[in-house]
Amino acid sequence: MNGQTPPRPAGAALPLSGGALSVVPLSVVPLSVVPLPVVPLAVAALSAVPLSVMHRACFPDDPWDAAAFERLLVLSGVFGHVAWQGGDPAGFILARDLGEEAEILSVGVLPLYRRRGVGRALIETVVADAKDRPIASIVLEVASDNEPARRLYATLGFTQVGRRPRYYRRETGIADGLILRRGIDRGITGEISLR
Ligand SMILES: CC(C)(COP(=O)(O)OP(=O)(O)OC[C@H]1O[C@@H](n2cnc3c(N)ncnc32)[C@H](O)[C@@H]1OP(=O)(O)O)[C@@H](O)C(=O)NCCC(=O)NCCS
Repeated sequence: MNGQTPPRPAGAALPLSGGALSVVPLSVVPLSVVPLPVVPLAVAALSAVPLSVMHRACFPDDPWDAAAFERLLVLSGVFGHVAWQGGDPAGFILARDLGEEAEILSVGVLPLYRRRGVGRALIETVVADAKDRPIASIVLEVASDNEPARRLYATLGFTQVGRRPRYYRRETGIADGLILRRGIDRGITGEISLR
């Protein structure tokens, strides 16, 4: 899932502090559907820089730069959320609505906020989004050596449906790309009357 974009100059460090966790949509989400081509581009440009700073902190070996986010944020169906701890960003998730399926494009939690349930909250938010749309499943890709992410996805019901051998090539070694999927269970809807 962590893409193949070229490295970027280091971003500024994010201010971090404690506080209550909230997960809110990126500003690009509602505005990207406004039928004025200049609006999503302008909004994407505003969101791209902070997203690239967060991405660098989460994926120091393969950061996506602001230009990559600008290109991504204007693609049809792209939506996302930022988790906030007090007034500071703690993590982000970007996904793409492909119709019957959604793909999680990237998810990351800043190191200071890990193991506090932020990653779980971000994925669960996208699962809730999927339930509001005609999406039957969510797919993502994870490196075979990314144990924290694989455990997170396993706890949230994702199972392996494919493998891309030797997909990730880094200085630290080569890893396969694992394709994981989970169905969207909407449960029983409607009223059941018992006699
Ligand atoms: C993977 C990542 C998003 C997890 O975020 P997080 O906020 O720390 O995860 P959570 O606190 O919500 O953890 C939920 C569960 O995932 C599993 N998990 C998360 N991090 C783990 C770790 N380091 N070791 C083992 N299990 C881990 C645990 O089951 C955990 O539940 P628990 O804390 O009750 O044991 C975060 O480590 C990260 O941003 N990593 C770098 C970027 C990345 O790899 N993104 C995914 C690319 S596919």
